[in-house]
Amino acid sequence: MRRTRARRNDYGGDSANDGFLGSNIRAARLGGARKQVLSAHLQALARHGARCAGVRVWDANGKVYLDLVAGIATNVLGHAHPNVVRAIKEQADKLIHVSNLYINERQVELAEQLYNVSGGMRSFFSNSGAEAVEGAIKLARKFGRQNRGGAFHVISMDRSFHGRTLATTAATGQQKYQDTWLPLPEGFMQVPFNDLDAVKAATTDKTIAVLVEAVQGEGGIFPASPDYLQGLRRWCDEQNLIAGNTTALRPTSRPWQRAWRAACRLVRC
Ligand SMILES: Cc1ncc(COP(=O)(O)O)c(C=O)c1O
Repeated sequence: MRRTRARRNDYGGDSANDGFLGSNIRAARLGGARKQVLSAHLQALARHGARCAGVRVWDANGKVYLDLVAGIATNVLGHAHPNVVRAIKEQADKLIHVSNLYINERQVELAEQLYNVSGGMRSFFSNSGAEAVEGAIKLARKFGRQNRGGAFHVISMDRSFHGRTLATTAATGQQKYQDTWLPLPEGFMQVPFNDLDAVKAATTDKTIAVLVEAVQGEGGIFPASPDYLQGLRRWCDEQNLIAGNTTALRPTSRPWQRAWRAACRLVRC
């Protein structure tokens, strides 16, 4: 078995961590072979990754980078922090994965914390943002089938991004993400962002949900105004629609967070 030499990491601990995106390092070692084993978009990443600590990532030539992206806003915990490493190791010693047929104690703890900070919302955990949005779309369709005579149309916003599955691509308001995959599932339409009247004008008896990012990311950095969000909330209540907010859990400031919580009790993806 090949051993990886332990190194001092930025937190003062020894780390046998051999890198940022480990599979890419292996791929880099494989040299030309990576062309056969990695999909094209991952080959670019394979150039990076000799080791990492905190926000820093070193490439195979020793050049250091600041990693301000992490998992594209997911797990933005830095690299190899000893507390994170310890928690993962401890959990791996106990239980790594069970299907959702069983109760997972840690999931319940997290759901309790989310319940408390969200003012009483229940959690549905999924593996990715796209799955979370798919779950919300399915919830909306079920609601439409049971309560609104089969209504299933979802209104989302121009410049939005909701994921890479077929349904979330259909909900995404950017043609460049859609063209390759046409035809997309039906029932999705986009209106201008931050424009409540546009949502009202697009609402029909087939509409079942409104999907909005509180801060648009992929389309540029465009925050929704509190008035707009509150107006959407009221409109969805009046029209008996599901309102979906698809933004990461930690909004940008406390006053904003309070305004958002007050405005929206909705499906948060
Ligand atoms: C607002 C929003 N929704 C959904 C997604 C999809 O998340 P994932 O890449 O985890 O499927 C993203 C990803 O960037 C996102 O920014």
